[in-house]
Amino acid sequence: MTIDILGDPAELSVEDAAAAVVDPAAYADGSVHRALAVLRRESPVHRIEAEGFAPFYAVTKHADIQEIERRNTLFLARPRYKLFRAVDAPPSDSAIALVGMDPPEHTEYRALLADKFRPGGLRFIADSVESLATSAVDMMSERKSSYDFVTDISMQLPLSVICAMLGIPDADRQPILRMTQRNFGSEDPEFAQQPGEQPQMEFAQYFLSVIQDRQANPRDDIASLLSHAELNGERIGLRELIGYFGILSTAGHDTTSATIAGGLHALIDHPDQLERLRAKPELVPHAVEEMIRWTSPVNSFMRTANADTEIHGQKIAAGESVLLLYSSANRDEDVFDDPYTFDIARTPNRHMAFGTGIHFCMGAHLARLEVRCFFDALIPRLRHLELTGEPQQLRTLFVGGLKHLPIRAEVA
Ligand code: HEM
Repeated sequence: MTIDILGDPAELSVEDAAAAVVDPAAYADGSVHRALAVLRRESPVHRIEAEGFAPFYAVTKHADIQEIERRNTLFLARPRYKLFRAVDAPPSDSAIALVGMDPPEHTEYRALLADKFRPGGLRFIADSVESLATSAVDMMSERKSSYDFVTDISMQLPLSVICAMLGIPDADRQPILRMTQRNFGSEDPEFAQQPGEQPQMEFAQYFLSVIQDRQANPRDDIASLLSHAELNGERIGLRELIGYFGILSTAGHDTTSATIAGGLHALIDHPDQLERLRAKPELVPHAVEEMIRWTSPVNSFMRTANADTEIHGQKIAAGESVLLLYSSANRDEDVFDDPYTFDIARTPNRHMAFGTGIHFCMGAHLARLEVRCFFDALIPRLRHLELTGEPQQLRTLFVGGLKHLPIRAEVA
């Protein structure tokens, strides 16, 4: 059995565990898992008052997170849909991104594109995903020496897929990449915004030009569909449109890249599981689910109660916020046997990496398709795989995963 927590949870106090929840370094070195295990056992709905953050309750049990998401007229996404620092209050556009909306607005906006992300709607992109995955594996087979799997392979594939879906030329990826790094990497010195940089502005300007172009020259892509979308007989506003492009393009690639890279890393760390997969490639769909559970790229989202209530015996007053820690739900001992074991055939695997309820990840089928196509293409051709340096995780409180994975691979 492999345990990916650093040290014995029994030796960590609840106060130290709570401090780890707001410490980006704890997500980077994996020690947050030990802290979350302590909170699940000692204080599953734990009030955290930490410098730089408005107070909130950390919710660490699978069942409690599910209940909060089910009670979606009591626990709202507005106004605090994620763990913002006090100095980094919700940006003015946050309320207009899908994850920050509540019904009925959320229902209307989600319906605009939901069909495109269902299995039937994804049929038109499935062949492209397959050929992009094969190209990624071809690139691996050409590399004879060590390289960074994240920057060279796993970041590129989901970015190409989302650009293909939106109808954005590959050459225009840069504003999307920078915006994602700004959104998810702001706690990491490597990606923190530099003086003079304005990634949000660049991103808005770029998509403004895309919207104008598609309104004048519609094509068969999601950018055209969105640019012409109407709600209640009126075109949706520019700010809302840019918010939609924002969530699709940023949510759509970093998370999937983190799963592909984290999945590959898990196979390197667990050679028995890699052998098992090579012997039975039909296990790839199960392995993909386990990779998603194992990596849990989205640490958390947040909700705020609009009336006094109670969760797991803890009173929550109207106006108080709860942090839904999916990464903790995915190691919950009450739901998973041996949660710290990476088991490519885990069944059942009721992980919550895509959330649950009305905000359940709209891109879940697409993400699964991408990760599956990649490993379907790689596993039969993989001859040898090794680490050539120290893997590095992003310092983050929100969306995370590997930022560097130096490897050498022999691929036929
Ligand atoms: C492994 C990859 C991914 C993971 C782990 C992931 C995780 C999540 C999570 C946890 C949520 C919030 C769920 C909740 O509040 O209950 C979410 C929402 C969302 N995701 Fe993903 N995601 C992934 C890939 C994608 C992809 C490829 C797209 C496609 C463009 C996407 C688009 C979205 C959108 C649009 C929402 C907002 C849904 C809503 O609020 O109704 N995600 N995702």
